[in-house]
Amino acid sequence: MLETIERHRIAIEAFEATSEEAIEKFRIEYLSRKGVLHELFAQFKGVPGNEKREVGQALNRLKQAAESVIVGKKPTTTAAETAPEDTTRPGHDANPGSHHPISLVRNEIVSIFKRMGFAVAQGPEMEDDWHNFSALNFPPEHPARDMQDTFFLARSPDWALRTHTSSVQVRSMETQEPPIRVIAPGRVFRNEAISARSHCIFHQIEGLYVDKDVSFAEMKQTLLSFATAFFGDETKIRLRPSYFPFTEPSAEVDIWWGLENEDDHRMTKGTGWLEIMGCGMVDPAVLSASGIDPKVYSGYAFGMGIERVAMQRYQIPDIRAFHENDLRFLKQFTSVI
Ligand code: PHE
Repeated sequence: MLETIERHRIAIEAFEATSEEAIEKFRIEYLSRKGVLHELFAQFKGVPGNEKREVGQALNRLKQAAESVIVGKKPTTTAAETAPEDTTRPGHDANPGSHHPISLVRNEIVSIFKRMGFAVAQGPEMEDDWHNFSALNFPPEHPARDMQDTFFLARSPDWALRTHTSSVQVRSMETQEPPIRVIAPGRVFRNEAISARSHCIFHQIEGLYVDKDVSFAEMKQTLLSFATAFFGDETKIRLRPSYFPFTEPSAEVDIWWGLENEDDHRMTKGTGWLEIMGCGMVDPAVLSASGIDPKVYSGYAFGMGIERVAMQRYQIPDIRAFHENDLRFLKQFTSVI
């Protein structure tokens, strides 16, 4: 059998690829299902054990030699590929991806606050009771801690998925010295029934500024600057008294939306004002819990839901659209940068 292999090896070496047809003939002769190599490998089964190694190696070398003839000699480009390009043909569809509307809105909000000197801060989505509740002045019996609102982790009642990005306030104050000026975008989780208006997973952006003599008026001015940058120069805002355990005084920020049509009435519940965020002066108890002396420093904080703002901006009627990954929905944002 070794002699047969040697004979073929010489023939393969002597082969000259004069044309594509000759190469194809060679391929059929040696490498096709009825070709020489197939036949030799079939015969290999009958080779006695002590010769198997030598014959096997010679066979493999033969197969490689035949394959390299095909690979090496085959013209690498076809005539169609070398022909000059027909510039009148329609272009290829590049099928570009697009940013998710949540990312678009988040990036825009972050860049507005960055211009005002805020740095981006982050915290974990899995939080302990201290950062999500206790340090933020939530009394032990506060309803927000309730099983109905919070996803506790099975391993320990001390751990939960964060219910708001305010936990990042505490983490920032624990690790930084004032002045602190941070903005913290992130995902939050609440154990709520999913509907057109609320979801159990959504996104917030938290803001925090702590320094000497930070005032409520300063906060209001900062939030007005944000509102005009994001919603347009003519935007008017109003602050309504509200309550959060971690701010005192607290307020809800509304923007003037108008009452021109039925949609405006529905979106603003007939008032013309649209609520966009919560805010307030950081409660002295929260400053102390986070290691900052409230006699020296004061601060403000605010937090807004990204989905809510995105729904207003792009007139998206159902919050569930953000999570469905329906390409018909997502493709609409291809041209938005
Ligand atoms: N954490 C609050 C919420 O989830 C929002 C908020 C943040 C309010 C900061 C005041 C200050 O609703």
